[in-house]
Amino acid sequence: MAKHFIFLGAPGVGKGTQAQRLAQLIGLPHVSTGDMLRASVQSGSAIGVRAAAVMESGALVGDEIIIGIVAERLLLPDAATGVVFDGFPRTIHQANALDDLLAGRGDQIAAVLHIELADEEIVERLSGRRVCATCGAIYHIRYHPPAVEGICDVCGGVLLQREDDQPAVIRKRLAVYQTETAPLIAYYHDRSAYHLVSGEGEADEVFSRIVKAVEVAR
Ligand code: AP5
Repeated sequence: MAKHFIFLGAPGVGKGTQAQRLAQLIGLPHVSTGDMLRASVQSGSAIGVRAAAVMESGALVGDEIIIGIVAERLLLPDAATGVVFDGFPRTIHQANALDDLLAGRGDQIAAVLHIELADEEIVERLSGRRVCATCGAIYHIRYHPPAVEGICDVCGGVLLQREDDQPAVIRKRLAVYQTETAPLIAYYHDRSAYHLVSGEGEADEVFSRIVKAVEVAR
């Protein structure tokens, strides 16, 4: 039976940073719906064309598109023992659909890791973020700079600033999180799998908190 992990939290709390590390530690694929959508935008696929403007505005892409790409992703062989979800589910409708998908496979949610961080710190982190255009590795100009400015330490790719990391779009994304995604906290809260993790401090400290929570869950 596969066991899946979910990272929940506002934009910029560190879901991607921590989900990549956890996936590597426990040997499961990192499944970021944001990364999948950005890959679709880059490839110019039909989904990418529909998603591009929505993402740039800071709104959420439609539930049916997201549920479709997640369902397809779970069919790949590397998802057989579980995945680390990053940025999914993001609405109650998506959470219900995930429950149905997992029930159909006989799978379980091992843990929901809800990372919490103050809005001022989120804005600081997002405005300094740089992402590798090739491998998706995440950097910050102050907190986690690459060895050579603008170049990825992992693969040598070019580091870019995301379109939706502009101040006005960050504010919109935070507002959308409150109305659309924050209700998931109550949805998962009463389940034994829910863990609230402080996102404050260095990435290593946050990761230690997550590993502690996950050890209990596994
Ligand atoms: P998505 O890509 O999922 O973005 P997000 O949820 O807004 O989250 P972010 O990637 O911005 O932040 P994060 O929490 O991963 O932080 P990170 O680790 O990078 O979604 C983008 C868009 O796609 C959405 O707006 C929507 O349109 C669409 N979408 C995606 N999924 C969807 C879904 N399920 N339904 C509908 N639409 C969907 O860290 C941020 C920065 O902080 C980095 O620079 C990092 O280096 C730095 N940092 C991290 N940890 C620390 C630390 N402890 N100390 C100091 N700096 C740190």
